[in-house]
Amino acid sequence: MNGKTALVTGGARGIGRAIVLKLASQGTNVIINYFRNGDTARETVELATSLGVEAHSFKANVGDPKKIKQMFDWVRNEIGYLDILVNNAASGIQRPVLELEPNHWDWTLDINARGPLLCSKEAAPLMDGRGGRIVNISSLGSTRVMADYAAVGVSKAALEALTRYLAVELAPKGIVVNAVSGGLVSTGALEHFPKRDQMLNKAKQETPAGRLVTEDDLAQVVAFLCSDAADMIIGQTIIVDGGMSHYWATALGSDNA
Ligand SMILES: NC(=O)c1ccc[n+]([C@@H]2O[C@H](COP(=O)([O-])OP(=O)(O)OC[C@H]3O[C@@H](n4cnc5c(N)ncnc54)[C@H](OP(=O)(O)O)[C@@H]3O)[C@@H](O)[C@H]2O)c1
Repeated sequence: MNGKTALVTGGARGIGRAIVLKLASQGTNVIINYFRNGDTARETVELATSLGVEAHSFKANVGDPKKIKQMFDWVRNEIGYLDILVNNAASGIQRPVLELEPNHWDWTLDINARGPLLCSKEAAPLMDGRGGRIVNISSLGSTRVMADYAAVGVSKAALEALTRYLAVELAPKGIVVNAVSGGLVSTGALEHFPKRDQMLNKAKQETPAGRLVTEDDLAQVVAFLCSDAADMIIGQTIIVDGGMSHYWATALGSDNA
């Protein structure tokens, strides 16, 4: 991964920052996309630079096609190519499904599903002939029903389907596309959940591995998927949840239920 260049959307904090720092620790130059928190982005640039790579930040709302275009115009003009795109940025309105309004749906889907599509469309030509990698970050809500998670869950289901389509259509160009889906990780994202502590305790109890998944657990799998060792993993969603989804599948009726 030495000397490659990666763009990580929402790379300034949380799981995105862990991915940025993992890739940087392996010698990959990084472009850190952010939306609102410039200070956090600058901090992450400093952390990555201290690992000996080149790091830049770029403010762009990935829910806005014009901003995505501006960001990739900058990559094209300033760097000229891209090796890795990690579609990590996400947002979403937390409501029961019948309380979702069209603007809630559009906000969530535009950032979490259309954003990765448009970023991938821009990234693919920049990866031409370089054996590029695209990794999309998903969550268990893509296939499971979680409280107030309908809009995000649907957006992640779309993202996983998009992963498969991109993977098949880009594989002949040498671009490898996969997704990494995670169990609950204690990041700033959970501040929007009213029952945050309860959720974390429950997740820990229901994780056979005995601890919560961390940002680094996800970042390591992203880095693996970006390595040559993962050349023939195409269009998969790798679940990193310490076994929680299997616990859910088997808990009813078991001694643990
Ligand atoms: N936390 C979990 O339990 C968990 C579990 C599984 C999967 N995931 C997934 O992992 C990814 C990262 O989650 P996280 O928990 O690290 O989230 P987080 O702490 O809330 O961070 C979200 C990041 O996305 C950026 N972002 C939000 N909206 C954006 C937009 N419209 N355009 C560009 N950037 C935007 C934010 O930038 P600013 O700070 O500048 O606003 C921030 O850097 C998401 O895809 C999430 O669905 C999370």
